[in-house]
Amino acid sequence: MKEITLTIDGKQCKGEHGDTILTVARKNDVYIPTLCFLEGLTPIGSCRMCVVEVEKNPKLLTACTTPAQDGMIVHTQTETLFDYRKQLLELLFAGRNHFCMYCSQSGDCELQRLAIEHGMDHVRYPYLYSDFENDATHPEFQLDHNRCVLCLRCIRVCAEKVGAHTLDLKDRGWNAKIMSDLGHKLGESDTCVNCGACAQVCPTGTITIREFAYRGRRSDCDDVVESVCPLCAVGCKFKGYVRTGSIARVEGLGTDEPDGGQLCYKGRLELPRSTESDRIHVPMIREGVH
Ligand code: SF4
Ligand code: SF4
Ligand code: SF4
Ligand code: FES
Repeated sequence: MKEITLTIDGKQCKGEHGDTILTVARKNDVYIPTLCFLEGLTPIGSCRMCVVEVEKNPKLLTACTTPAQDGMIVHTQTETLFDYRKQLLELLFAGRNHFCMYCSQSGDCELQRLAIEHGMDHVRYPYLYSDFENDATHPEFQLDHNRCVLCLRCIRVCAEKVGAHTLDLKDRGWNAKIMSDLGHKLGESDTCVNCGACAQVCPTGTITIREFAYRGRRSDCDDVVESVCPLCAVGCKFKGYVRTGSIARVEGLGTDEPDGGQLCYKGRLELPRSTESDRIHVPMIREGVH
């Protein structure tokens, strides 16, 4: 691969031909905020949080989809970019119900983190959103359309990593929403394999796993343990968030892992339950039997 060199925020950054600006930035520890992008999924450049300025280019460019070119001079933290990103965040908060105090993901939400990072203490636009449905038909997951930022991570992971193609987008503009199986409720889907990958990649409180809600934010957990799921012979790797001696949440390692970071229903939902039952603490030895 041909090596290329970019100047990002004054720093000489090495990358390879074919990398995007975001990839080169991440390889060189330069932070660019993102929302719709997730390592391992096809970048779609829809949220525009990752916009950067490239010298001699009149437009703001999305770092996650713009190919890096040798000699590019990129700025990622100018006042213009900060204001632009903050405005996007305000529009997202004005576009749906994001009153964080009522949301199970508060404190563990990428959208909220970005808003705090950009000093967003109020929204300059009127709240004109409609009430959307909270689809609670699935026994394990909730799909609260009121929190959706339409980043399409869930659709992409379901299609590209799980291969179930359950999720898609319905309607346009402000009314666009995630749907399953051409319009069925999530609990009535015939194609969903209940793996929970969509919930893992959702950056907001839209798709959540009922059992993990209010059991502890990721940052509240006492420990994060990487291990191998013991429930079948495939042995998928997982990350267990442990809180007060219980597994509060189970996640696949990441969509950029060779296995796509996938877990099945058993790994994601039965594994935490299996640690809740009484465990044997001493060896069981049969005595007095010949
Ligand atoms: S999804 Fe995030 S930003 Fe929206 S209400 Fe929940 S915590 Fe707040
Ligand atoms: S639980 Fe798995 S199969 Fe079902 S919609 Fe989510 S990602 Fe697709
Ligand atoms: S449900 Fe979550 S992952 Fe899917 S589009 Fe909405 S915010 Fe993004
Ligand atoms: S992260 Fe690049 S456009 Fe969303």
